[in-house]
Amino acid sequence: MANTVIIGAQWGDEGKGKIVDILSARSRAIVRFQGGNNAGHTIKVQGKETILHLIPSGILNPGTLCLVGNGVVLDPHVFLQEVEQLASKGIDVSPARLGISKKAHLILPYHKSLDQAREAKRAGRKIGTTGRGIGPCYEDKAARVGLRAGDLLDADLVRHKISQALEEKNILLRAYNFDPLDADSVTQDLLALAPTLTPYLTEVESRLQEVQNQGGDILFEGAQGSHLDIDHGTYPFVTSSNTVAGNAAAGTGLGPSSLNRIVGIVKAYTTRVGSGPFPTELLDDTGSYLRTAGHEFGATTGRPRRCGWLDAVILRESVRLNGLTDIALTKLDVLQNLPALQICVAYEYQGRRCNYLPQEEGALAKVTPVYEELPGFEDDISTCTAWTDLPDTVRVYVQRIEELLDVRIAFISVGPDRSQTIER
Ligand code: GDP
Ligand code: IMO
Ligand code: MG
Repeated sequence: MANTVIIGAQWGDEGKGKIVDILSARSRAIVRFQGGNNAGHTIKVQGKETILHLIPSGILNPGTLCLVGNGVVLDPHVFLQEVEQLASKGIDVSPARLGISKKAHLILPYHKSLDQAREAKRAGRKIGTTGRGIGPCYEDKAARVGLRAGDLLDADLVRHKISQALEEKNILLRAYNFDPLDADSVTQDLLALAPTLTPYLTEVESRLQEVQNQGGDILFEGAQGSHLDIDHGTYPFVTSSNTVAGNAAAGTGLGPSSLNRIVGIVKAYTTRVGSGPFPTELLDDTGSYLRTAGHEFGATTGRPRRCGWLDAVILRESVRLNGLTDIALTKLDVLQNLPALQICVAYEYQGRRCNYLPQEEGALAKVTPVYEELPGFEDDISTCTAWTDLPDTVRVYVQRIEELLDVRIAFISVGPDRSQTIER
């Protein structure tokens, strides 16, 4: 048995979708365990691109079971839109192979309004959320007033919970100068989706246990990245869920001993969307070069991603936080034609060198990166299919990362397509 967790090791958009797609061909079930449609996971197969926000990135591999676990916050409209889009491409999205946990919390229109209202009010101190209602939905879950997918089976319960919620939310929305919402229309709108949605409701933990009992492998698909984690990330510039590997168990209903292999996805440089500290950010021509060469524009919001050099300090932290057993290094091809490559190996903080992340709020914005320079490369590596095909300078860069992190780099991605992957 080798159940595998895929986790972003930086600030998201590392290429998790691509690696999940590849590994799903060897898995019986793929399950999302946190986040929602703030995620945008891209898969490219024979030149055709698919972007998924909620449905697991294993859906393109026929025969796999794709599940949305209890830890996810699910926007019912987005889920059904995604189902329709995939169905129109001839992909099987029937409830036989796609399921939602009855315990997953639903994102409702007032969550989106509150997310956007709060961001608008923050003016110069915006988090830069995706505006998808993620934070407010998790707030309701923690406050024990949330509406869960399984509630769709009981129209009276839906009506009651929405009218109770709006009593409070409308006070807040008015205070933010946002339009209040009508409980009846929110309820009717949701109940109209119930007949299409309820066939997907399932007991995710039992389905996964069944797969395990039959000797099948499970792939846990993380969203966001380790440094967007609500506890361990660059708080308050984080998302509202635990993004680290440990949550793969709690977010699906299996025990931690079910997690055998933890693969951290590491982009060969660093990107970040939204606000928050980013020590190796490049605000110069090199940053623009990475953005253009790497097509660094958000798969969810289309926002330009901030770009910078690889940061081994945050990555060492990710190795520990997630217990990484392997790394998949992505977007190595994007570094082509840079005269030299820099890796941040430590920080200078308060006049001293430190090789860990200072934990006080705001401290990471005050560190200065200490770089190690490695030679660049001019060769096009996007057609390399084996480790031995890669030029020496590229192998030196990869091996140096391996040394700094002390974790095996098991996959090297040299282009967006499924086929552009080297397995070592
Ligand atoms: P995710 O959120 O971690 O799944 O990543 P995204 O899909 O948001 O962003 C990754 C982007 O990089 C997508 O456009 C992918 O198609 C693309 N991509 C993934 N791996 C590679 C790679 O090795 N090289 C290049 N050039 N692009 C890649
Ligand atoms: P994937 O799975 C990159 C960022 C937002 C914002 C912060 C909080 O594609 O890697 P939220 O809407 O979650 O409350 O926003 O988190 N963010 C992501 N950044 N990739 C993602 O997902 C992200 N999901 C959220 O930009 O800074
Ligand atoms: Mg993404």
